[in-house]
Amino acid sequence: MKNKKTFLVTGGTGFIGRNIVNLLLKKNYKILVLDDGSRGVFNKTINKNIKYIKGDIREKKLLYKCLKKVDAVIHLAYINGTRYFYEKPDVILDVAIKGLINVFDGCKKYKIKELYLASSSEVYQTPLKIPTDENEMLKIPDIYNPRYSYGGGKILTELMGINYGKKFFKKLIIFRPHNVYGPNMGNEHVIPEFIKKIKSIKNKNFKIQGSGNEIRSFIYIEDFINAFDLILHKGKHLNIYNIGTNEKIKIKELAKKIAKIINKKIIIRKSPLKEGGTKIRVPNIKKIKMLGFKTKFTLNNGLNKILKLNV
Ligand SMILES: NC(=O)c1ccc[n+]([C@@H]2O[C@H](COP(=O)([O-])OP(=O)(O)OC[C@H]3O[C@@H](n4cnc5c(N)ncnc54)[C@H](O)[C@@H]3O)[C@@H](O)[C@H]2O)c1
Repeated sequence: MKNKKTFLVTGGTGFIGRNIVNLLLKKNYKILVLDDGSRGVFNKTINKNIKYIKGDIREKKLLYKCLKKVDAVIHLAYINGTRYFYEKPDVILDVAIKGLINVFDGCKKYKIKELYLASSSEVYQTPLKIPTDENEMLKIPDIYNPRYSYGGGKILTELMGINYGKKFFKKLIIFRPHNVYGPNMGNEHVIPEFIKKIKSIKNKNFKIQGSGNEIRSFIYIEDFINAFDLILHKGKHLNIYNIGTNEKIKIKELAKKIAKIINKKIIIRKSPLKEGGTKIRVPNIKKIKMLGFKTKFTLNNGLNKILKLNV
């Protein structure tokens, strides 16, 4: 039997990375994970098909050592968490751009022709069309707002991805996750933050950023992984794919839904929306559906599942 491919997963100990690694293991691929451990969790289980390397994506030498041994790359390493976009935009951009250039240069050097790049819905900030498809105009509304360090890095990921992809790769695919949630996702996301706050609430007052009328859609990690699996095996070279769901919800309704499952009473208190936050973000997922994607989890099911697991 022909040997299966070896993948390098950068940022592979993070929330999405760990789940992608599990998918690859199930499919009997070999995996190298490169992660600096700034946010992810290193898996202690021993498996002959996976090797973990602790290091920074900006360290060219170390990255090249990994790239020497692989056939394809899934590039996820990036600094996430809205707080950090405002606090250390220079570092966000440093990791985004140096990481990206190192990955491209290394793939060219070792003739790796297959690359998957994680982008984000933040590339289009306030979209003209809702639901938003992959052809939406990419933009940064205010260069002085540090928040856009994150989206700016992702715009460059896509711009360089398409242009380098044409010249140096056989299969380069960009995917845009739209608010993925699930067990053990870390605290810098709206759902775990709400769960934590609501669980410990004392006087019913629940303060949220903005009016609570902001609209989002959330995708459960198992659905996300099914969509990613389709991209991996059926995705087309130089294509961009939204990964998300069409189930919209107002942020205040999300808080109420979580409170109901936990059996707590809350009163929503508004606060100013941080500059750069957007009012509505819902992806058009026709393109991923064309590959065969079907959403299995409603938001209710997904929330119930993580709350039952208590992680
Ligand atoms: N979770 C989502 O809803 C979402 C939405 C949009 C885009 N994304 C993108 O998907 C990818 C994965 O996201 P996630 O939710 O798993 O985030 P995460 O923060 O859990 O994972 C990112 C991983 O990258 C690692 N990392 C950070 N800086 C590094 C560096 N300099 N060198 C090596 N490793 C480094 C972290 O330790 C972490 O394990 C990211 O590129 C993210 O921007 C995620």
